[in-house]
Amino acid sequence: MSKKHNTHISNVLVIGSGGAGLRAAIEAKGKGVDVVVIGKRAKGDVHTVLAAGGINAAFGNVDKEDNWKQHFADTMIEGYNLSEPRTVELMAKESPEIVQEIDKWGANFVKLDNGKIDQRFFGAHTYRRTCYSGDYTGRSILMTLIKRADEMKIPVHDSQYVTELLVNDGICFGAMTFDIKNGERTVFLADSVILAAGGHTRIWRKSSSRRDENTGDGFYLGLKAGCTLQDMELVQFHPTGMVIPENIAGTLVTEAVRGEGGHLLNANGERFMSNYDSERMELSTRDRVAMANYTEIIEGRATENGGVFLDISHKSKDFIIEKLPRMYRQFLDTLMIDISKSPMEVAPTAHYSMGGIKVDPDNHTTGIQGLYAAGEVTGGLHGANRLGGNSLAEILVFGKRAGAHAADRSINLDIQYRSKKAIDNAHDKINSFIKNGKNVVRPLQRELRNIMWEHCGVVRAEDRLNTGIDKINNLKSLLPTVDVRPDSEGFEDLMIAFDLEASIMSAESTILSAIERKESRGAHQRSDFEKLEESQNVNYLSKLDNDNLKVESIPTEKLSDDLEKAISDTKEIKNYSGKLIE
Ligand code: FUM
Repeated sequence: MSKKHNTHISNVLVIGSGGAGLRAAIEAKGKGVDVVVIGKRAKGDVHTVLAAGGINAAFGNVDKEDNWKQHFADTMIEGYNLSEPRTVELMAKESPEIVQEIDKWGANFVKLDNGKIDQRFFGAHTYRRTCYSGDYTGRSILMTLIKRADEMKIPVHDSQYVTELLVNDGICFGAMTFDIKNGERTVFLADSVILAAGGHTRIWRKSSSRRDENTGDGFYLGLKAGCTLQDMELVQFHPTGMVIPENIAGTLVTEAVRGEGGHLLNANGERFMSNYDSERMELSTRDRVAMANYTEIIEGRATENGGVFLDISHKSKDFIIEKLPRMYRQFLDTLMIDISKSPMEVAPTAHYSMGGIKVDPDNHTTGIQGLYAAGEVTGGLHGANRLGGNSLAEILVFGKRAGAHAADRSINLDIQYRSKKAIDNAHDKINSFIKNGKNVVRPLQRELRNIMWEHCGVVRAEDRLNTGIDKINNLKSLLPTVDVRPDSEGFEDLMIAFDLEASIMSAESTILSAIERKESRGAHQRSDFEKLEESQNVNYLSKLDNDNLKVESIPTEKLSDDLEKAISDTKEIKNYSGKLIE
């Protein structure tokens, strides 16, 4: 079979054309090195466009008392102390500058009358801290980064599916790709590689990600290259995904609806959050609101379509169109529902991978020389419950850091060895999928999503997790039987076959860690271990050992004295004011 490929050489290769990848590329290019960005989706239509409600930065523009220490404390405490403290510190300290910067570059943030950036409430933030462009903040940030990258003449190649990171003797020297449109293979050679390929939440049946994004391919590439994953069991279920129509069930209904005053009601018309968090109500933490919605649904107080109501119709149409323009359109476009007149039906949806590749907080190295990672593909920041709005801060702060360090490595590198054998093996791997087989790959992907939803969903238990692993092993045994025939069907099935292998490995790592974490904490809820256990103040790490995933635990990183003090200097978190913007 063919081993033909094109060769592309740059100093820095960025895998992933979302916010983290582009911010990394801009920083690296600014240091004078040659950079290329590759992505599997169309440029400008990557997952970052779905980030809706905002980006956090403790400016104190609206609530003067806010500061980085409070942002740090909110993130650590609401993440149930599983976060890497230094990572949280960097995000809290650096997000104001990075938000100012992207605003100057052209992001369309809403301003106050005094010209400063407006800030809205998001769940479990002590103060109004979330900067926003309506409810399309991710899109506005992404378009700004694309414009900047274009101005800097950074090439962005889309439709590039990365099958393997090329590693020689523990040093990453590039990646193998094929073009999803025509199958053409390219070996991208580089001094430094930055992996910014997103998470794995599309492997659940109900997901806020779209088809073929967030399939766990970033985790798979990292694991195969020798990286360690951490906290894979910690997956955030957003409380409010659409329930109907079935074909887009799970699509995000932004937290900004609740931030702007929306109420959650069960089928009996009860504002049920008073039973779960009477102080913070709808602006409680995501894990609590998701569990509240889930409980109302399974205890029989669900709407006709199996959700709960989210109602903002007590606000004026003008207010809704100004603050939530995308949500207004989304419900009209898909269901012909005018949310200024009728409530929305919502239910929990898999939304964010809080675990991921273990990285050094400061430079985002991965433990594999030459390989960096940034954004949702990494772990460390969010602990057991991510605060809304921290992900956009994460991609910019750590995209920038990864880009700077990757460029420095290239600038200081004397010699980069490459391996013909590694390239050969990468060809062999692609060729092994191309054959007539017994199983069309899409239905297998669907089966995996059903398994994850049923066996490793919002509430977990050991017996169901174990059955999930058995079913996944069965699915894995079918991988060699998939049917991939590019001559008649094109190269999409090849992409799905790789995605399926990646999703299976990510699923396995998630379930194995979920079995180990014998407690309920944040987004990880176990019906057989209902309490948070101090003995589980650990991070679970997954690594490949001779192609088998092994999971072990390490104690969480201790807070330094300075950071302890930062927390004790802040307002007591539970004294949340409960104020809403009126
Ligand atoms: O609900 C939202 O707008 C999501 C924001 C986030 O996940 O940060």
